[in-house]
Amino acid sequence: MVCLEFALVTPYFKIAVVAVRLAMMKEKTLSDIHQHWMQLALNEALKAVGNTHPNPAVGAVIVRDGQVLGKGYTQPCGGHHAEVEALKRAGDVQGATLYVTLEPCASQGRTPACTAAIIPSGIVQVVIASSDPNPNMAGGADVLQQAGIDVILGVCKDEADVLNRPFFHYIKTNMPWLIAKAAISLDGKMATRTKHSQWISGAESRQHAHGVRALCDAIVVGVGTLVHDNPSLTVRDARMIGKPPLRVMLGKHAPKPWKDCKLLSDEAPSRFYITHDSEDAQAWRDLGMQVMLVEDYQAAFKHLAADGCLQVLLEGGGKLHAACLEYGISNELLLYQAPVLMGGVEALSFWHGEGVATMQDALHIKNIERVMLGQDMCIRGDIVYPS
Ligand SMILES: NC(=O)c1ccc[n+]([C@@H]2O[C@H](COP(=O)([O-])OP(=O)(O)OC[C@H]3O[C@@H](n4cnc5c(N)ncnc54)[C@H](OP(=O)(O)O)[C@@H]3O)[C@@H](O)[C@H]2O)c1
Repeated sequence: MVCLEFALVTPYFKIAVVAVRLAMMKEKTLSDIHQHWMQLALNEALKAVGNTHPNPAVGAVIVRDGQVLGKGYTQPCGGHHAEVEALKRAGDVQGATLYVTLEPCASQGRTPACTAAIIPSGIVQVVIASSDPNPNMAGGADVLQQAGIDVILGVCKDEADVLNRPFFHYIKTNMPWLIAKAAISLDGKMATRTKHSQWISGAESRQHAHGVRALCDAIVVGVGTLVHDNPSLTVRDARMIGKPPLRVMLGKHAPKPWKDCKLLSDEAPSRFYITHDSEDAQAWRDLGMQVMLVEDYQAAFKHLAADGCLQVLLEGGGKLHAACLEYGISNELLLYQAPVLMGGVEALSFWHGEGVATMQDALHIKNIERVMLGQDMCIRGDIVYPS
C-alpha cells in the first residue's frame, strides 16, 4: 500500500477523495456503480506502484451480480498482468464484468496479450479507466469490441492517469518524471550565505520527505550537495514500496573521493553520472561506486529512465534545480517552506541560475496543493512551462 502518512500531498490523495465521495452516495446510478468498482481496481493498482517496471501499475476487479469474483494487480516484470491475475483468482467468470485501470494489452510482450485471456473467458463487459499510450501495446479496447465484448472507456480516468503518470511521461518523452524537492525559507533560500542548510524545515516535513523518497525510484543531487552535505539519501521512518531508491550524483567531474562518503554505504545502490572521466572518477570506481560517463545531463536522465527509474526526486542543490528548470525537464514541485528568513545575495536560492527575463516567461504551477506540516507549509504542484 502507498504510505498514507503523506497521501495528503501526493496525487494519490485524489483517489482517496473519490472513494469517500462514492461511499457517501445513497442512490447509485450505473455510472456510480462503475466508479465504485473501478475504485476497487485503483486500490489494487496502488499495491503494485513501484514494483512493475518496465510495465505500468494496473489493478483489475471482476464482478458479477454485485459480487467480486476476483482481484489482481500487476506482478513484477515477467509475471502476470493485473487482468490475468484477477482471472486466475476468479474461477468461472461467465457473464461477468472486468474493471481494469489501464486498457488491456493486445500484443504479446514478455507475457501473452491480455486480450487473448479475456476473450475466451466468458467476460461480457470490460470497463477501462485509461487508454494505453504505449503504441506497441494499445488497441486492446478495439480487439475486445471486435470479439463482441461490451467496452466502456474513461471511468475514473483522471485518477488512473495520475497513478501511472511517470510511466506515461516516459512513453512519450523517454525521460523520467522529475520532482524538484527543496526545503526553503520564506524568502526562497535553500542555504545561508555560508552554505549552511541543516535544518531549514522541521521534523514533520523531513518525515514527509522520507515518505516521498520511498515512492521514488531514484534520488538525485548535484556534485555541490554531495561534497557539502555528504547526504545519505536513504529512506528512513517511512514504509518502503519495493526496492530502496537508487542514490545518484550528477556533475561534470567526480569530486575528490573520500572514504566516509555516505553514498558508499550498502543501504541502497548509488551511481555517479559524470561528463568527463578523470583519476578521481577511477578512484571512486575503486571504492565501489558505479561511475557512468555520459554526454550530458539529459543523457543521464534518459539512462536513468531506461534503467527503470521513472519517478525521480531531485534533491538539489540550487544549481541542479536551476539547470533542470531552465532545460524544462522538472515536472513537479515539492517545497517545504519554513517560517524563517535568511537573506543575502550570496545565499543559495531554490532557482540558483539565470531565471527568466519577463513575467511572460515565468513558470506556472497548476494543481497546486498546500498543507501545513508542523510550522512549515508543504506546497506541491505540477510545473507548466510557457509554450
Ligand atoms: N535546502 C535544501 O533542500 C537543500 C538540498 C540540497 C542541498 N542544499 C544546499 O545546497 C548547497 C549545494 O548546492 P549547489 O547549488 O551549490 O550545488 P548542487 O546544485 O548540488 O550542485 C551543483 C553542481 O551540480 C552539477 N550539476 C548537476 N546537474 C546539473 C545539471 N543538470 N546542469 C548543470 N549542472 C549540473 C554541476 O556540476 P559541474 O559544475 O561539475 O557541472 C553544478 O555545479 C549546499 O549548501 C547544500 O547544503 C540545500
